[in-house]
Amino acid sequence: MAGSGLWFSLLLAAVLAGRAAALWPWPQYIQTSESHYAIFPHNFQFQYHVSSAAQPGCSVLDEAFQRYRDILFSSHSWQPPEPTRKHHAPEKNSLIILVVIPGCNQLPSLESVENYTLTINDDHCFLLSETVWGALRGLETFSQLVWRSPEGTFFINKTEIEDFPRFPHRGLLLDTSRHYLPLTSILDTLDVMAYNKLNVFHWHLVDDSSFPYDSFTFPELTRKGAYNPATHIYTAQDVKEVIEYARLRGIRVLAEFDTPGHTLSWGPGVPGLLTPCYSGSHPSGTFGPVNPILNSTYEFMSTFFLEVSSVFPDFYLHLGGDEVDFTCWKSNPDIQAFMKKQGFGNDFKQLESFYIQTLLNIVSAYGKGYVVWQEVFDNNVKVRPDTVIQVWREETPVHYMKEMERITKAGFRALLSAPWYLNHITYGPDWSEIYMVDPLEFKGSPQQKALVIGGEACMWGEYVDSTNLAPRLWPRAGAVAERLWSNELVTSLDFAFKRLTRFRCELLRRGVQAQPLNVGYCEQEFEQT
Ligand SMILES: *[C@@H]1O[C@H](CO)[C@@H](O)[C@H](O)[C@H]1NC(C)=O
Ligand SMILES: *[C@@H]1O[C@H](CO)[C@@H](O)[C@H](O)[C@H]1NC(C)=O
Ligand SMILES: *[C@@H]1O[C@H](CO)[C@@H](O)[C@H](O)[C@H]1NC(C)=O
Repeated sequence: MAGSGLWFSLLLAAVLAGRAAALWPWPQYIQTSESHYAIFPHNFQFQYHVSSAAQPGCSVLDEAFQRYRDILFSSHSWQPPEPTRKHHAPEKNSLIILVVIPGCNQLPSLESVENYTLTINDDHCFLLSETVWGALRGLETFSQLVWRSPEGTFFINKTEIEDFPRFPHRGLLLDTSRHYLPLTSILDTLDVMAYNKLNVFHWHLVDDSSFPYDSFTFPELTRKGAYNPATHIYTAQDVKEVIEYARLRGIRVLAEFDTPGHTLSWGPGVPGLLTPCYSGSHPSGTFGPVNPILNSTYEFMSTFFLEVSSVFPDFYLHLGGDEVDFTCWKSNPDIQAFMKKQGFGNDFKQLESFYIQTLLNIVSAYGKGYVVWQEVFDNNVKVRPDTVIQVWREETPVHYMKEMERITKAGFRALLSAPWYLNHITYGPDWSEIYMVDPLEFKGSPQQKALVIGGEACMWGEYVDSTNLAPRLWPRAGAVAERLWSNELVTSLDFAFKRLTRFRCELLRRGVQAQPLNVGYCEQEFEQT
C-alpha cells in the first residue's frame, strides 16, 4: 500500500504541478480528479457522524467548525451574489466527521495521533480520524480544497486523501523577551501555525532583556524585570488563554525558562540569584549567569519550577542551557573556591553540569520531561535517557548533521532547528534553502533516525516585534512545516513554489500579512481591510 500509494502521490504531484490545489503542506497520499461538487454556504454544515465518539459539545470540534465556516465563507472580500443553481455539478451540503476516540477536553501531546482520511466522492463527503487532533488537520485540508469559480460559486473536487505527519514535533519558537509580543500577536501566530499543521508553540518567555512572565510566587520578577510591569507582562490569565487557544488548534505549548545563562532580567527580582562578577579582587557591580554554588539558588529554582510545572500542563518543559558564558564565573573567588572543593579543576563545563543536573533532578521530581539546547549534551551533562536535545548551533550542515548523528547515537531524541532560524533574512528566495533541509540526512541506523522527533523554526526577537513578526514568519515558516509534515520525497522546488505562492495568497485572504515569495500578484490582495 505504502509503495504504490507513494508512487501515485508523486506521479500526481507531477501532473498537478501546473494547477496544483493550494494544499500546504502536501498530504501523504492524494488522488483528485476534475469532477467536482458545488457547495452553497447557506446550505452547508459540518456534522458529527452518528457513530462518532465525539458529539456536539466537543469544544475542539464545535469551535473548529465555526472557524472553518468563517474561513471558507464569511471573508468580507467574498460577498457572493446568491448563487444560481444552474450548475451541472451535484451539491455537497455537509462534511460528515467521524472521530473514533473523542478526547475533546484533553491536551494534545507528543504522542497524539494526527492521521486522518478525507473522502469526497459521489457517495461521501467524509472526514475520518482517530482523534480530534486528526480531525483538525483534516478540516484544514478540507478548507484548502474548496475553491471558487469566477461567478462566485464554491466547489470541491472529487478527492481521496490519506494523511499523517512525518514527524510528531513540528514547532515554532517565539521569543517574547527581546521584544514583548502582545497577546494578539501570539494568538494570531497560533492560527497560522494551525493553517500550516504546526503543532508545538515553543514559548521562549524570558531572557536577558526582560522578564514578562508574571509569576505568582515571585511577583518581583516582573515588577523589576519586565520592560513595563503594568503593560508588558503575561498574566496568569494571558497564559491560560494562550494554552487554551493553542489546545483548540491541536497545538502544544512548550514553555522555556532558560538558565543558567540568559538570565540577566531575573537578577533584580531575586537578589543573590545571579553570580557577582569580579574585576580583580572586587565585585565589578555586574552580574553573570545564575550562581550555581548557593543552596538558595536551588531553593528558588525548586519553588519557581513547581509553579511553572503546574501552570504549563504539557509533559515537557524547555530548560534552556545554551550559551553559558564562563567569564563571570571564572572571575568570582567564591566560585573558584567551590571548583577546587569539588575537584572540577579549571573545567567550568563541570560546574555547568553540576548546575544543570541539580535543576533536572528538581524538574523531573515534578513529573515533567524536558527539552534542552544542544550544549547540555555537548558538555556531557548527565541527563535522563528520555531527554530531548534541540540542535541549534548555526554551523554548516555537515556540523549540525554530525550533531544529530552523535545525539541519536547516544540514544537521545533530537529536534532540529539549526537551519531554521527565520530571524535571519537575506535577499532573495531563502525559503528554498529552508525547504531543502532534511532532518534525517545524517549517517545513522534506522533506530537512530527514529529518535528524530521533528524540528522547530525559530524566530528570535532582537529585531522582531509585532510590527514585522507576521511577514517575517509567513510563508517562510511554512517551508519548515511542509518539511516536517510531508513525505520525504516531496522535494520538488517547482512544485513547492507554485503551491506556496498560492498558499501565501490564501494567507492574505485569511488576513495574514504574509510576505511575497517573488514577483507576481494575488487576486485578493487589495481587498483586505
Ligand atoms: C478541480 O476541478 C476543476 C474543474 O473541473 C479543474 O479545473 C481543476 O483542475 C481540478 N483541480 C484539481 C486539483 O484536480
Ligand atoms: C498513522 O499513519 C501512520 C503512517 O501510515 C501509521 O504508521 C500509523 O499506524 C497510523 N496510526 C493510526 C492510529 O492510524
Ligand atoms: C547546602 O546544602 C548542603 C546539603 O543540604 C549542606 O551540606 C550545606 O552545608 C549547605 N550549605 C550552606 C552554605 O548552607
